[in-house]
Amino acid sequence: MVLTAAPETATRGEKDRLLQEAVRVLLRNWHGYATVPSRSLYPHQWSWDSAFIALGLQHISAARAATELLSLFGAQWADGRIPQIAFNPAVPDDAYFPGPSVWRSSAIDGHPPIATSGIIQPPLHAVAVASIVQQMDDPGLGFAERAYRCLIDQNAYIRDRRTVAGGLAVLVHPWETGLDNSPAWDHPLAAVPADLSLFDTYTRRDVAHAGAGERPTDQDYARYIRLMLRYRDHGYDDDWVRAKAEFLVVDPAFNALWAWSQLALAEMARRLGRDDSEHLSEAARVTEAMVDQLWSEERALFLARDARSGRLQPERTVAGLIPLVLPGLPPAVVDSLVATATGEAFRIGTPDVHGVPSFDLTDVRHEPRRYWRGPTWLNTTWLVARGLQVHGHQQLAQRLDDDLVGLVAKSGFREYFHPRTGRGHGTRSFSWSAALLIHVLAESD
Ligand code: DGY
Repeated sequence: MVLTAAPETATRGEKDRLLQEAVRVLLRNWHGYATVPSRSLYPHQWSWDSAFIALGLQHISAARAATELLSLFGAQWADGRIPQIAFNPAVPDDAYFPGPSVWRSSAIDGHPPIATSGIIQPPLHAVAVASIVQQMDDPGLGFAERAYRCLIDQNAYIRDRRTVAGGLAVLVHPWETGLDNSPAWDHPLAAVPADLSLFDTYTRRDVAHAGAGERPTDQDYARYIRLMLRYRDHGYDDDWVRAKAEFLVVDPAFNALWAWSQLALAEMARRLGRDDSEHLSEAARVTEAMVDQLWSEERALFLARDARSGRLQPERTVAGLIPLVLPGLPPAVVDSLVATATGEAFRIGTPDVHGVPSFDLTDVRHEPRRYWRGPTWLNTTWLVARGLQVHGHQQLAQRLDDDLVGLVAKSGFREYFHPRTGRGHGTRSFSWSAALLIHVLAESD
């Protein structure tokens, strides 16, 4: 492996300029109590986006970062789920599809005061909360106490309503994974009928704001809509969905972030003078179950498992590297993961690749401009960097942080980037790209 300095390492003056621009992006995308990922493509509050956004916002104002997350927790359901989208009532229903009138959350017992979607997203929130609490002075414990209770309910929901045999979390919609159109879902999704006549009734809004060649296909979108309508029509019932869903996957990134969030909750518990032992044992249990059920010796990577067929999906995606954030991984697994990250599939730290590509560079399905089928994203690059740091690979982690800054310097606050040319794709002024730039620069000062 050739580890070179990022060719586009930014100077101090350039970093200051980028910081100012990043702050402007977050201020423009703030709508009074939360931040939209993008004013055009995603005009509401998204769950895991808000966790990344709060990590950046805390360096502008810890109080604002706390508000961001408390707003999201205000949309938590009585069963503990933190929904993927909290809809802004001031935004017209048809600004985003599927909007509130399609999800119909208000028909559910125990629905929150505002309309939401009915699915979940990766639980990074405890990590963000723990980081903000560290930034705050003593009064921050009021925020910590409130947030801790919401996070306990979120974790109980995942554990009690969303695990399958073996004790790992199962996801019922590709949007729940955060890596919506990842090639790892191609096979499980093939079982879901793609009824394009749905678009006689519904209109995709996303392709009005980003190139169709950079977004999921109509076939995939028709499947997404079918899955959400079926879950909705069964009252978002998790007993039904775990028994009958046409799509059920156990994802390494989601489960890794779940275990990581238990470690963050343990830290918060200690700060709040509570017992941390249950969180620590949950983190250890999930880590062990992941190694047992999702680790592939042959692919040298964590893989997703299709819970319907029981089969591991062979695709090498960035989700399989994210478990690096867990300190409890066996050293041999860590060594293999680092070899995979720097090898032909991802080529991180090499002169010709920026950040961490979302999908195997050697696979014929790799599409460097299409959403989660190849481009580099800054959030997953940041997560892999943190994982490398956890296991003492400081130089490689630093290289990814430099890449993150370099991509923004070259192409702006884009949603995702061509892994080889660094050109920007997807929407512009994207909040988590701005937030993570701020966070990385703040942490390196
Ligand atoms: C979208 O609308 O594409 C979002 O990613 C769903 O979360």
